[in-house]
Amino acid sequence: MSHSFSDFCTIARSHAPRVAIILGSGQGSLVERVKLLATVRFADVPGFAPPTVHGHSGRVVLGLWCEVPVLMFQGRMHFYEGHEANRVTGNVRLANDLGVTTLILTNAAGGIHDSLNPGDWMVIANHLKLLTPTSWQESLEAPKPSPYAPELVAALAADPPLLIGTYAALTGPCYETPAEIRALKAMGADAVGMSTAMEAEAGASLGMRVAAMSCITNKAAGLSAGVLDHAEVQEVAGRGHVVEQFANRIERIVLPSFHLRA
Ligand code: HPA
Repeated sequence: MSHSFSDFCTIARSHAPRVAIILGSGQGSLVERVKLLATVRFADVPGFAPPTVHGHSGRVVLGLWCEVPVLMFQGRMHFYEGHEANRVTGNVRLANDLGVTTLILTNAAGGIHDSLNPGDWMVIANHLKLLTPTSWQESLEAPKPSPYAPELVAALAADPPLLIGTYAALTGPCYETPAEIRALKAMGADAVGMSTAMEAEAGASLGMRVAAMSCITNKAAGLSAGVLDHAEVQEVAGRGHVVEQFANRIERIVLPSFHLRA
């Protein structure tokens, strides 16, 4: 079932989703939890680009999750694929146009903090955006606040507790050198990846409530004996119990406040 963009938007507007979830590498299987209402391929969305990386799907899905209408993005457009900030954040503007007010982002990341191991989740409270000198709608006015909503960060990180940390967003697409990881650690980063920061800032500047979680797929370069590779990142992020842990938190913390009969 794949719809045209205009049919997708008509169906989405009739269901009025208020929550959008942008799923990172390997985590697309989360859509299996929802009752599908409509889908559109990135290739059919104006301004979007189909994924160029193996294993990344590019689909927008409208579904009912615990009876709550939710917009889900299976995949995203990355800065490392050569897209400008404006295109990278097109998903966030589409969600905003369709009436979404709460934006949840996930990504696969390398763990820098000593306590983070493959399969763990970290809730992002702030980021280091080391991607690009200028970004979407950035102005000369500084300083800027963290785009992540503090009450959502605290709720998502509670029971059983998760690390609340700082995510370093790098350009990629190469993984880092061990020296870069030591530098990032000294700068205060707890996890490292190649996405999320631009989308989070775009969402916050549109007035959305934003939260993001990193799925730790590996210890960052130089912090373990293993050699990093994309297949391993996908495999760890897609493990059933790992996706489940994220889904359970969303079901417990986010969805109840949007339940029409709540
Ligand atoms: N570095 C950058 N991005 C990543 C990593 C990493 O170690 N793991 C998954 N995405």
